[in-house]
Amino acid sequence: MHCSVTLENMKRWVKMIRFIGGLCLVTLLGIAYISYLCHNSLCLAPERFSLSTKHSVSASSSSSSRSEVPSSPTSTAKLVGGLASTVNIESVAFKEAYEMGFDITDRDVIVFLHIQKTGGTTFGRHLVRDLILENPCNCPRKRKRCDCFRPNTINEQWLFSRYSTGWKCGLHADWTELTDCVEGALDEYEGLARKRRYFFITVLRDPIHRYLSEFRHVQRGATWKGARHFCGGQEFTSLPHCYKGSNWTGVELDEFMNCSYNLAHNRQTRMLADLTLAGCYTGYNTTTDQLQRDRILLQSAKQNLARMAYFGLTEQQAVSQYIFEQTFHLDFENPFDQANATLSAQAIAELTPAQIERVRQLNSLDEELLEFARQLLQERFQLLKRRDPHFRQNWLRMVHPFKSERNDANSLV
Ligand SMILES: *[C@@H]1O[C@H](CO)[C@@H](O)[C@H](O)[C@H]1NC(C)=O
Ligand SMILES: *[C@@H]1O[C@H](CO)[C@@H](O)[C@H](O)[C@H]1NC(C)=O
Ligand SMILES: *[C@@H]1O[C@H](CO)[C@@H](O)[C@H](O)[C@H]1NC(C)=O
Ligand SMILES: *[C@@H]1O[C@H](CO)[C@@H](O)[C@H](O)[C@H]1NC(C)=O
Repeated sequence: MHCSVTLENMKRWVKMIRFIGGLCLVTLLGIAYISYLCHNSLCLAPERFSLSTKHSVSASSSSSSRSEVPSSPTSTAKLVGGLASTVNIESVAFKEAYEMGFDITDRDVIVFLHIQKTGGTTFGRHLVRDLILENPCNCPRKRKRCDCFRPNTINEQWLFSRYSTGWKCGLHADWTELTDCVEGALDEYEGLARKRRYFFITVLRDPIHRYLSEFRHVQRGATWKGARHFCGGQEFTSLPHCYKGSNWTGVELDEFMNCSYNLAHNRQTRMLADLTLAGCYTGYNTTTDQLQRDRILLQSAKQNLARMAYFGLTEQQAVSQYIFEQTFHLDFENPFDQANATLSAQAIAELTPAQIERVRQLNSLDEELLEFARQLLQERFQLLKRRDPHFRQNWLRMVHPFKSERNDANSLV
């Protein structure tokens, strides 16, 4: 827990005691809330996956019924309350983010959930280098990371990401890891326990393109050994590797696809889902287990995605940038580049129909997740567009004709 913060004086003790008191209160409220949900028979999580009741739900009080902004497409309606969330931090969903805005001076933090090979590196650079702020991030030369401090503070980061805080919750930390770790990590960094409001953001990509991109990255020697796979209070350090030796350099696609516990399969769904609802990394045994597990992971991933403050799609850079700017009321200096999709298309053209079919099968959850995401993105775009009195000007900035000259397709392929 957060007790790892070194306490040096009485002042901090007092703060700590207040903090623990706060935690207890939140837990009690959470238990009350969960019983309330269950009372209304919305508590549909299967019995065999016990919910960790030590946590409480606080997907930011959406009780403000005055708001007319729908947080999710109609198709998500049946999800509401489907799986009890197990977050113990305050997270802000799209609707609230848009209505209340992001307060960089107070206790708001943007947390970037960076899924491998989605174009997240480029997006992450835009976040630290390209946002128009009174106090831009400080990015010293010869250093990979920037300091994105709140105005008038010397150590309070408002952005939790690879290029600001670094991988403080593990390499490419997923939803399960981040929601568990981010507050403690920032407490430790700032030397002070406090309650923050978290704006989770992510980028998703077409599953076939993403999978093939990961395959080629692994073929070139990538392993992501630094990933923690922390879930349900433990680190799954000894997950089996698909390769012998230190990496999988030179692997062929058929071999890559043959490994049944390859974490590339349905990566986006797994990294967005609350893994504690489906037995963490231990559910790979029987076929029936697998089907049950898949259903839960997909539902949880959709639910978490809809509750995030923001997500973008690699294939829709302009729309994604526009939604970010309107949601956070922050603008980027430079438009996002739309990477040339021809290269991905060429890579797919080299596969046999059987291989393409296999890639699809192995990523069927991600396919469904992306279908949901595309619809949700469109709904948000239409909504923000309707409410934007300066839509034309704003949109023209995103689709500036000169921007497509630069081509960072290589960072994606
Ligand atoms: C991958 O492993 C091979 C031997 O198994 C080694 O020679 C090579 O340096 C490794 N590559 C990376 C990127 O670690
Ligand atoms: C993949 O698995 C199939 C069926 O188990 C097997 O026939 C095939 O040889 C394997 N291919 C590779 C490249 O390992
Ligand atoms: C599932 O796998 C775990 C560990 O790999 C094992 O302990 C357990 O007995 C297996 N369960 C079944 C039903 O095979
Ligand atoms: C995309 O890449 C292909 C191949 O490299 C090139 O022929 C094509 O002109 C590029 N398209 C754009 C819009 O940059």
